[in-house]
Amino acid sequence: MTSATAHNGTEPTIVFPKQWKRRHLLDLESLTAEEITILLDVAQQLKEITQNCRRKVPLLTGKTCANLFFENSTRTRNSFSLAAKRLGADTVEFNSSGSSVAKGETFVDTAKTIEAMGVDWVVTRHGTPGTPHLLARELGCSVLNAGDGPHDHPTQGLLDMLTVRQHRGSIAGLTVALVGDIAHSRTARSNIWGLSKLGAHVIICGPPTLVSPRWTELGFEVAHHLDDILPRCDVLNLLRIQFERQRARPFPSVHEYAALYAMNGERMRKAKDDILIMAPGPINRGVEITPEVADGPHSVILEQVNNGIAVRMAALWLLAGANDRN
Ligand code: CP
Repeated sequence: MTSATAHNGTEPTIVFPKQWKRRHLLDLESLTAEEITILLDVAQQLKEITQNCRRKVPLLTGKTCANLFFENSTRTRNSFSLAAKRLGADTVEFNSSGSSVAKGETFVDTAKTIEAMGVDWVVTRHGTPGTPHLLARELGCSVLNAGDGPHDHPTQGLLDMLTVRQHRGSIAGLTVALVGDIAHSRTARSNIWGLSKLGAHVIICGPPTLVSPRWTELGFEVAHHLDDILPRCDVLNLLRIQFERQRARPFPSVHEYAALYAMNGERMRKAKDDILIMAPGPINRGVEITPEVADGPHSVILEQVNNGIAVRMAALWLLAGANDRN
């Protein structure tokens, strides 16, 4: 577990950081700046060792990763699966639809059943905040949060930060705006905690109906008009409007939303020349971002996807190392 052999046989290429002690990755709020930096450093190393996350290294051979997804996913599920396979581990793919959940089995019993098949990590996505924390208490293996309702999505926050760091070298001192449906966004929360711990100035921007006053009370800058903050931003992270989590309509129509918050060609001309345009995905073209911006030269959306594999390889490797040492 302490070092990797690269695909071309040279070694060692990565050394386990002794400071890393965590067995679970549940949120970014509870991580220290040092722990976040370790995760990003290891992700960068693994990305290079695996040649942009395409080659295998036998770091986790003989281990098994179970993906327990109770909500839909394209990016997170597939990149956790690929991350495990790139490091030589096996995977178990659990889908709540078609499972014994329909017969009344509880969430914890389902997870314990999968764990009993001999898994080393459970990766869980669920619509209820706190479900990964519950599993971390109930299971013996490592638990990774792949998104718990609107609460947290730590690997998304990490892959966003890794992408920013690759382009800017450092996160400290940058002005990063999270724009859109803050109220329902686990990505927003992970980014707010992670970026602020690493020294970025975070601006939380969205309609008053989708931004809690709590953020102002906590000392964050809050804005309700993208045009007011745009010229100051180094990075924009454009969040999807999560209609599926909303009980009441937070604005009259998507046309009103897009008029105030969509990143489009006209707004790009008012932004910094080197602005980074990010989105966690899935994107709604024409709502929070227009196609010319999503597919334009400032967009790093697909780089974020590739970095998702790197960050998830790092998380699996670090948690397994902490488990093996305990
Ligand atoms: N960003 C993100 O979590 O995407 P998925 O829902 O496709 O996993």
